[in-house]
Amino acid sequence: MDYKKQTIFEIQYVIRMQKDALRSFSKNQLALRNGQDKPEIWVAFQGLIYDVSDSRLWRNGKHYEHWAGQDLTHELPDAPHTASVFEKFKVVGQLN
Ligand code: HEM
Repeated sequence: MDYKKQTIFEIQYVIRMQKDALRSFSKNQLALRNGQDKPEIWVAFQGLIYDVSDSRLWRNGKHYEHWAGQDLTHELPDAPHTASVFEKFKVVGQLN
């Protein structure tokens, strides 16, 4: 096998391992982290759940017209920013 294929296999392996290592949460568990029911404030984006509790812009779970505690992947086109806003937040798990 050539080294490029080998490298691709290795990268795919690492990605798989990292995904397995993430905790999984259901939609209902995510919904409780809406900034109203529990202290944590979480937002799901492209399969991953981010903890935005420390953000002043997500206080009480509300960000402009959007609510935390749900998958907002399809709402990003409404935003005046890109997905890079998620970079500084900790991933707490994946949405299953
Ligand atoms: C009407 C729609 C929206 C408006 C007007 C809006 C506006 C903003 C503004 C002004 C910021 C400040 C930083 C920046 O511009 O880079 C921000 C940050 C952010 N937005 Fe939005 N946004 C919208 C929708 C969304 C949606 C749908 C998501 C999730 C998919 C989202 C996630 C975030 C996150 C995670 C941050 C970073 C917060 C921080 O750094 O504390 N936004 N948004």
